[in-house]
Amino acid sequence: MDKICILDMGSQYTHLIARRIRELGVYSEILPNNISIDELKRHRPIGIILSGGPSSVYEEDSPQLTKDFFKLTKIDKIPVLGICYGLHLIIHHLGGKIKPFTKKEYGKTELEIIKPGKLLESLNNRETVWMSHGDQVENMPEGFEIIARTATCPIAAYANEDLKLFGVQFHPEVVHTQSGTKILKNFIENIVHAKKEWNLENWIENSIENIKKEVGPKNRVILGLSGGVDSSVVAILLQKAIGNRLHSIFVNNGVLRKNEEIQVVRTFEQDLNFENFHYVNAEDLFLERLENIDDPEEKRRIIGHTFIEVFENKTIELEKVYPDIKYLAQGTIYPDRVETSATSNASVKIKSHHNLTLPDDMMLKIIEPLKELYKDEVRKIGLQLGLPENIVFRHPFPGPGLAVRIIGPIEKKKLDILRDADEILIEEIRKAKIYDNVWQAFCVFLPLKTVGIMGDYRTYEYICAIRVVESLDAMTANFAKLDWELLEKISTRIINEVKGINRVVYDISHKPPSTIEYE
Ligand code: XMP
Repeated sequence: MDKICILDMGSQYTHLIARRIRELGVYSEILPNNISIDELKRHRPIGIILSGGPSSVYEEDSPQLTKDFFKLTKIDKIPVLGICYGLHLIIHHLGGKIKPFTKKEYGKTELEIIKPGKLLESLNNRETVWMSHGDQVENMPEGFEIIARTATCPIAAYANEDLKLFGVQFHPEVVHTQSGTKILKNFIENIVHAKKEWNLENWIENSIENIKKEVGPKNRVILGLSGGVDSSVVAILLQKAIGNRLHSIFVNNGVLRKNEEIQVVRTFEQDLNFENFHYVNAEDLFLERLENIDDPEEKRRIIGHTFIEVFENKTIELEKVYPDIKYLAQGTIYPDRVETSATSNASVKIKSHHNLTLPDDMMLKIIEPLKELYKDEVRKIGLQLGLPENIVFRHPFPGPGLAVRIIGPIEKKKLDILRDADEILIEEIRKAKIYDNVWQAFCVFLPLKTVGIMGDYRTYEYICAIRVVESLDAMTANFAKLDWELLEKISTRIINEVKGINRVVYDISHKPPSTIEYE
């Protein structure tokens, strides 16, 4: 299959570039910027994109291209598109000059197209683009032509059609660049001439065939099913491939949302007819171990370890009856596995809770059917496989669940209060038809008591914080500017209907500097 390779120079948008290319029907992969030429060749890229990045080309330790990079692209005629820092790198390596700027240009700018060529074909003369840079190209080696400029950036895009080297100072991958997708499409269609072979129907068929082949006619597979979209899609793929030789284990860890366990059991056992679906209620064990624990990392550790213990015990029990259990399936997706320089911290944190590592002596082989996919691709596949929309489009929910949404020690009483408040919030957000437009909406229990008045009585109860954020990938997030009337309805309902809460506050913090979750 034709593949575009993206060399990661540290941009927060690197995954976004890969997603956009795939949305255009061409398979793309992210590779580290220090990859050797031999390794890069093994990937057989039909086109290469150099991502942006926070560095300056003259800085010590800034990402550079390997010595023979341009030899490879010249001999094999592989087109290259440099974005932002990537555009600087091409010029820097081929003998041009980059002018360092300490002041950053950030935000929307008007681009004037001077000579569209193949890259900027069929764009307007003037286009809005998204800039985020300090340095600029000052002069270029022979053979390079300026194809667009802005008021402050005279070389905002260039082309060297002979060598098939192109560069844009702005970010075509972000939605704020009006014709960004068209530019990437031009690169793929007019310059790379890539075949559009990346489509999800083929993917499903191939994946089922591959699972069948890998697992063989007799072996059984065990899966930790959380009810989230990733593990649910893995479950359905496996069910289609090996039927009842899939054993799914769903653990109630005591920190789930209201009625979550009932919904998951109903969906898989009744609606989707899963035969070997095992529900393990370990609520008491988890809550006992979490008693009096207020440190967030300690909560995470306890939940993670207890989960592995419960899962392992159930697996051992099943292995006695089914000695053919030989595989452990996981819902790892592409961004979990491929850490770009910019996402590494965040994904390490998320990953440590998603991917359970069972002891080596269990000798289970790992199978990860979604390891090449992005979340939106997993969702599309989920829909095609008949997974209900309420699972496919469900907001992300942290592995340690409500434990990180109750500040301080966890108690059953606080969990119940939080579950009731959260249910009301989600109900109202759905009624207002904004559930699918926001990244996450949830309540947080603040263990602070304040005074209130209900009828003739003075109350002294807890505070509930509401957090609703918009985001593309959880790396950055904005609080959602919800309607006052909607917030009023939510607050009134929570205070009237949830015993234990007499005050509701709305969180108006962006990420960064605040995180999405509270702990
Ligand atoms: P933060 O709070 O770091 O969250 O802004 C970013 C995204 O990650 C989710 N999150 C977690 N997911 N285990 C998880 O599986 C965790 O410990 C965890 N902490 C945060 C969070 O819900 C958000 O979508």
